Amino acid sequence: MRTRIKEVLERGAESAPCSFSGWVRSVRTSKGICFIVLNDGSSVDGIQVVAESTLPNFSDICRIGTGSALTAAGTLVESPAVGQKWELVAKSIEIIGNADESYPLQKKRHTFEYLRTISHLRPRTNTFGAVFRLRSKLAQAIHRFFSENNFLYVHTPIITASDCEGAGELFRVSTLDAAKPPMLDGQPDFSQDFFGQKTGLTVSGQLEGELFAQAFGDIYTFGPTFRAENSNTARHASEFWMIVPEMAFATLADDADLAEKFVKYLCNFALEECADEMAFFDKHVENGLIERIRGVAEADFYRMEYSDAIDRLQRSGVAFAYPVEWGLDLQTEHERYITEQIVGGPTFILNYPKDIKAFYMRQNDDGRTVAAMDLLVPRIGEIIGGSQREERLDRLESRMAEMGIAAEPLWWYLDSRRWGSCPHAGFGLGFERLVMYLSGMENIRDVIPFPRTPRHCEF
Ligand code: 4AD
Ligand code: MG
Repeated sequence: MRTRIKEVLERGAESAPCSFSGWVRSVRTSKGICFIVLNDGSSVDGIQVVAESTLPNFSDICRIGTGSALTAAGTLVESPAVGQKWELVAKSIEIIGNADESYPLQKKRHTFEYLRTISHLRPRTNTFGAVFRLRSKLAQAIHRFFSENNFLYVHTPIITASDCEGAGELFRVSTLDAAKPPMLDGQPDFSQDFFGQKTGLTVSGQLEGELFAQAFGDIYTFGPTFRAENSNTARHASEFWMIVPEMAFATLADDADLAEKFVKYLCNFALEECADEMAFFDKHVENGLIERIRGVAEADFYRMEYSDAIDRLQRSGVAFAYPVEWGLDLQTEHERYITEQIVGGPTFILNYPKDIKAFYMRQNDDGRTVAAMDLLVPRIGEIIGGSQREERLDRLESRMAEMGIAAEPLWWYLDSRRWGSCPHAGFGLGFERLVMYLSGMENIRDVIPFPRTPRHCEF
């Protein structure tokens, strides 16, 4: 049985026989002793393995390349060297898989851009090791949070016949012959397609989630989400993961309260349960990260009306690239200015103009805004989008008609307003944006194992 390096670094085990298996990070020979740093992926730190010349395969060990896989067995002793508490004095070292000098991850530091071109190997670096351990732990924390708060976890479908956000960003799912589809009135005839209708990959599990909220009270989905959106930015991916809670008998204010509690919980979780990774990010990715996240965990999130945000942006005197005007959507530059310069912390923007938001949001009495909220955070901008939903059947139907959304395909959604309709609200948190926020990583491509972006889908 191999011992995980993390376990030993945490609790120590002096004089205990141990066997580690992992990949060589560095090799150094000095005065007839070979020092190998081995990392097994369980922690940021590796363990130093000390190989003496009495080992039968000592000459092979000295020539071992960075990236090789090996198993080292021996005794754990307190290390005389600074910067590490324990080291392994090897009794045997078995070379499992060699790596020669063509291995791309030699000792020198590589740029994230370069590492993106070798996404099959980058998990073996310190930075990506820390990112993907944090990501894994956070995914578990998300389930823990909702479980502790009695939310039902529902698996909403990935293949869907509805475009929830209505933005036409659906990836088509079809088995029709792309070169020669059956045609009807000059259009591909989707009634002959696999599902007998036009289908695509989900852009959000919200609409199906709402149906479950109206049966179970509080629910959430957490799954992959797809958008055929041609945005080549550092915060957009074509495939990403979204956390989507929905609460029955809840208003926009309740929704913002939940979002605030949730984000703070995740900040505290990262600081406590991923302390080594957070210390690594603080040192190598963003200086002051831990202070920043601690600040968020303790802050009261600011709440600002959309109209007020427009007013403040206009009064700022800043020459933004995109226009600032009541009725227009906020661009990332505006969002960042609000959260970084005006407020200096996480900020909810509430009650957006109805014409820039989706059909399902609850119409406010002023006739021109809807009960929408976005949570903006420094460095990233929008991390959460949510709303109270329109629960009044007549208002929903008239809004859909106004926006040219056909009622027939959404008959099931309208049915939920026909019987036992109640006020309800929810939001979507982009999981990758959360990981970016908590790690300090600046590009979404660097927090998802194998990024999918326009014109890029490797493996
Ligand atoms: O604001 P969005 O589009 O809202 C919805 O999808 C609603 N149905 C949510 C709801 O009310 N249940 O997306 C929600 C969040 C955004 O705030 C952002 O964090 C993330 O999803 N997101 C993306 N993340 C990465 N790449 C993209 N292309 C993203 N689009 C949205
Ligand atoms: Mg949004």
